[in-house]
Amino acid sequence: MLSDNQSYAANKRSDSKASDLDAAVLRILAGLSDNISILDSATAGPRYQEDWSGAFGARSPVVRPRTVAALAEAVRRLHEAGMRMVAQGGMSGLVGGGAPMQDEVVISLELLNRIEACDLYGATMTVQAGATLQAVQEEAERHGLFYPVDLGSRGSCTVGGNIATNAGGNRVLQYGMTRASVLGLEVVLPDGRLVSRMGRVAKDNAGYDLKQLFIGSEGTLGIVARAVLKLQPLPRQRFTVALGVEELDQVLRALAACRGQFGPMLTSFEVMWRDFVDFVARELGIGRDPFGGRCGYVVLLELSCYDRQPERDEARVMDALEDLSASLSTQHVVIAKSLSEAAELWRMRDASGEAARHLGPYLSFDVSIPTSELQDCLPRIYAGLDAIDPAMRRLTYGHLGDGNVHLLVGCQGSPADGVENLVYREVMRSGGSISAEHGIGLEKSQSFQRLYPAAELDAMRRVKRAFDPGALLGRDRIFGLP
Ligand code: LAC
Ligand code: ZN
Repeated sequence: MLSDNQSYAANKRSDSKASDLDAAVLRILAGLSDNISILDSATAGPRYQEDWSGAFGARSPVVRPRTVAALAEAVRRLHEAGMRMVAQGGMSGLVGGGAPMQDEVVISLELLNRIEACDLYGATMTVQAGATLQAVQEEAERHGLFYPVDLGSRGSCTVGGNIATNAGGNRVLQYGMTRASVLGLEVVLPDGRLVSRMGRVAKDNAGYDLKQLFIGSEGTLGIVARAVLKLQPLPRQRFTVALGVEELDQVLRALAACRGQFGPMLTSFEVMWRDFVDFVARELGIGRDPFGGRCGYVVLLELSCYDRQPERDEARVMDALEDLSASLSTQHVVIAKSLSEAAELWRMRDASGEAARHLGPYLSFDVSIPTSELQDCLPRIYAGLDAIDPAMRRLTYGHLGDGNVHLLVGCQGSPADGVENLVYREVMRSGGSISAEHGIGLEKSQSFQRLYPAAELDAMRRVKRAFDPGALLGRDRIFGLP
């Protein structure tokens, strides 16, 4: 992440170049103003420069198409003119991928935000990329259906951004990442051609399944314009449960037991370490610690139930929770009794963004660690951090149900490189991944290129070259082309 001073200097330098870029964009897109709104770099403002990690980009003109045809035409013309472009959704990304670099034109999908159709028999929804995740969730519920992808930024993030980054979130253990909910996709290629396979079908083996290439490609292979999403049955009832335990070993036993007890009813298994709970609930005053400072770990469960008779589900859940607390020897079980109590428990978990922003200079890790390695890997990371600087603040939380750990390290005055090397070394040693769900973007690109095998990087670069030989779209995100 750039420090404030660095990004300020970069932006000062870019002022005169930005107005050249403004003029060029107006010239290239002349005649398209009916279906495209263009903001010049002076009026666009920080909303188009900065993502939620604080990565701050250059001042750039912003092109906002209102139709897919206009999007494709704009990209075609910009490509022909050799202009560099970066696609933007809700800018809630955490790796700087959407922040424009010098000389890049922003293509924002925010005006392409219609929910086009909901197919009740097929349980699908057809949407434009700029619709927010929350709008999609609410529309599905209005039809008695359920869109299972869920993340804290639901009100800001867009479905196109979710697809471009293959967003994960809170319900991956039951429903998979965004990829698992995408049936059809329409993508504008870097040269403006449209690839449209908007099939509302679960089975389609006609040729390569190209959509899988675009999902998670972080805006480097094409721009997601529309999608067909797969919907699920809407649970009749949900239980939110907080479970307090002392040791990581008990957290893992709880996970195995919950899987066995609840099967597909278990739709979230989130864990907050004591340091995270204290910081968010006590220091920032967000949400409420259900265990008043006791318990090393707070597990947040979401259980989704479908029985027509809710009392049968309730009895089953209560029974299972009794067994669970006996086998874990914990008395610390809190079941939310109302929607507002459930929301209060989730508020604390959803406050990860606020936690990061209040930590001062920080490093943010989003790693996957195989569940069976967590008890070896995490203590080695903590010991290494202590050896670098025991005063470094660290907050741990994450989607433990799928081995996704988020770690925030306050690193004022401590060597960021040393911290990063340590964490990634241990994660790779465990067989995990340096990016579980946030992607690589700009921020993790150096580490990614340093740590992953040459053959793998080379294969990815060949794919990039096939789609975008001039590297005009999302250049240097994920990796650079030599
Ligand atoms: C979360 C984001 C940071 O899980 O991925 O809160
Ligand atoms: Zn997360």
